[in-house]
Amino acid sequence: MAAPIDRSQMGLLEVEEIRSFVCRCVETAGGAPSHASCLADVLLAADTRGHYSHGLNRLEMYVWELQAGQCDGKATPTIIKESPGTGHVDGQNAIGTVVGTFCMDLAIKKAKNVGIGWVSCKGSNHFGIAGYYSLMAIKEGLLGMATTNTSPIAVPTRAKEVALGTNAFTFGAPADDNDSFVLDMATTTAALGKVEMQRRKEEPMPNCWGVDSDGKETKDPNKVMDGGGLLYLGGTEETGGYKGYGLGMMVEIMGGILGGGPYGTHIRKWQKDDRVADLGQTFVAINPEMFAPDFTGRMRQFMQEMRAMEPADPDKPVLVAGDPERCYEKRVTEEGGVWYHRSLITAMDKLAVELKVEPMKLKNA
Ligand SMILES: NC(=O)c1ccc[n+]([C@@H]2O[C@H](COP(=O)([O-])OP(=O)(O)OC[C@H]3O[C@@H](n4cnc5c(N)ncnc54)[C@H](O)[C@@H]3O)[C@@H](O)[C@H]2O)c1
Repeated sequence: MAAPIDRSQMGLLEVEEIRSFVCRCVETAGGAPSHASCLADVLLAADTRGHYSHGLNRLEMYVWELQAGQCDGKATPTIIKESPGTGHVDGQNAIGTVVGTFCMDLAIKKAKNVGIGWVSCKGSNHFGIAGYYSLMAIKEGLLGMATTNTSPIAVPTRAKEVALGTNAFTFGAPADDNDSFVLDMATTTAALGKVEMQRRKEEPMPNCWGVDSDGKETKDPNKVMDGGGLLYLGGTEETGGYKGYGLGMMVEIMGGILGGGPYGTHIRKWQKDDRVADLGQTFVAINPEMFAPDFTGRMRQFMQEMRAMEPADPDKPVLVAGDPERCYEKRVTEEGGVWYHRSLITAMDKLAVELKVEPMKLKNA
């Protein structure tokens, strides 16, 4: 989330330029126009919220999966089983963002009818930033939660090998004055995409992100990507990494186990396996009006009390989850677009050539 410093290595792209490029690429790779547009919305939400790891950085992966037939760009999810408050969905191997919006729409509808909607699925794919789905609930005045399992890339506490994914989790709640709490996180210290971004930039990673193939902590992103693995939130056992490992298992229980797809080591390996992903995801929406009065007013006050605390460093005010992303969105609006590292823009130009589609035009060219 750090602000770009050296703009000489950056290029500015307008939001609509990015959106139309994603749509061109996804449709050329076999995605239905409405599905391409849904994916563009989620990738843009990632980049405009400062989560570059999950925006354009992931486009090559989605395109490759569509071209290889590992993901069905035209499939529509189906409901296997439902009750007034629950739904069990088969994503039918559709694009993950299509499955995610289908499931969260269903959870929202149920929450509006009976107070809560809990929808779990199998047969999904990578759904982008988890926070997109809690924001869908927040926009409807509801609390939202979403989880996804992922390919095994993280090392359980005390283990030497990877066995679980970065298993993302989001929980969001609306508040008065258009405010909201949006916790959106990998259960590993960092998302895999952040390691990839360090590798693209040829820069080392901070502490507690990952281990090499001997299970030893390393700051080299290449060693993590080539035979090593990520550490769970907290890092090693000494620094409480077992709590992140517990959260990673919790997400897996709500994903693969509840949804009925593969779990843990049974999920295909990241980009080294020609099986379909068959990811398990859960989407929850809760109507606060079913509980104590004035939820949104109390939420607003609670968050303001946190933000008003005296900071340890006067230059760094106390934040609540969702504040860094809100700040980033504001900056994107003020600057008229998203700044990307040149290495990513070069990769997108290469993708445009491969797909024979028009490349993006830089605003600051
Ligand atoms: N689809 C997938 O397979 C998958 C897997 C893993 C992660 N992801 C996504 O990757 C993205 C990045 O994940 P991450 O864990 O690296 O995020 P992160 O560490 O940047 O942020 C995690 C959370 O902490 C909050 N936060 C950050 N600084 C804060 C501060 N000073 N005070 C209070 N709160 C603060 C943020 O608002 C956010 O809610 C997320 O959007 C996540 O959903 C997706």
